[in-house]
Amino acid sequence: MANLNIQSTVKLNNDVRMPILGLGVYQSPPGRVTRNAVNFALRVGYRHVDTARIYGNEADVGEAVRESGVPRGDLFVTTKLWNSDQSYDSTLRACEASLKRLGLDYLDLYLVHFPVTDVRKESWRAMKTLLEKGKCQAIGVSNFTIRHLEELIGESHVIPSVNQIEFHPFLYQKELLEYCQMKGVQVEAYSPLARGERLKHPRIGSLAEKYAKTPGQLMIRWGLQHGFVVIPKSTREERIRENSQVFDFDISDDDMRSLDSLNEDLRLNWDPTNVP
Ligand SMILES: NC(=O)c1ccc[n+]([C@@H]2O[C@H](COP(=O)([O-])OP(=O)(O)OC[C@H]3O[C@@H](n4cnc5c(N)ncnc54)[C@H](OP(=O)(O)O)[C@@H]3O)[C@@H](O)[C@H]2O)c1
Repeated sequence: MANLNIQSTVKLNNDVRMPILGLGVYQSPPGRVTRNAVNFALRVGYRHVDTARIYGNEADVGEAVRESGVPRGDLFVTTKLWNSDQSYDSTLRACEASLKRLGLDYLDLYLVHFPVTDVRKESWRAMKTLLEKGKCQAIGVSNFTIRHLEELIGESHVIPSVNQIEFHPFLYQKELLEYCQMKGVQVEAYSPLARGERLKHPRIGSLAEKYAKTPGQLMIRWGLQHGFVVIPKSTREERIRENSQVFDFDISDDDMRSLDSLNEDLRLNWDPTNVP
């Protein structure tokens, strides 16, 4: 983990490079709040923003990245296909609409937001078309379990580059992680701070103190050391900066295991386990 920094990247299975730290903007209100958050993040060195059609703030993300002056090639913008837009033609249209709202010519990463039953296969076929047309540099999925990935990989020669899933010490999805690693699918950890709900956990507190970092920094670093791409959300400047100051310490192997063992299958978002 030596020498990583806020702009370090990981190479995806199609050779596209993805920054390992990004700013999440779920529940970041549309308008000035999101524009400020993205603008500030880019000023402190973030190069990656994670939005979605359903977050309602693609236009603000787009405006902030365009106004930042950061060259397009240095930026990494992800958005996601919403459930009601799934299927073949509607996926193609949804991608065009997201690009228009973002004011971009291409997406760095387009994700199927959720494994919606019956339509997800057609959606994936459209995702491949979008990739071929250059509308996105990489395509992936989100909230896919092993079963959903197996189905997709069994039927398609294009393996998703990324699976964006809820992942934090209190939801340590070991089997899914190992499956993704085996298939070359990059794990991207969402809700890496457990949405702020476990920052006061005693072990998080004592280890944060040991490394002279905040609980949030410890949780983000844990994800990075596992090799995930990590996308903490905040709209507050001091926290956006704090969440990026995670490259000046190393959690020991013992302490990583201690954090792993906090798992309590805590799901703070939707649970795709039983989605047929
Ligand atoms: N694919 C999916 O289905 C999916 C689902 C959920 C999330 N995501 C993505 O993942 C991103 C992150 O996940 P998330 O937003 O659910 O949760 P998160 O990043 O785990 O936590 C965000 C919460 O923690 C607070 N916070 C941020 N930094 C903090 C710090 N340093 N100290 C204390 N509190 C802090 C934020 O409040 P303030 O804003 O007030 O600072 C917010 O309430 C999302 O924004 C989204 O881009 C994807």
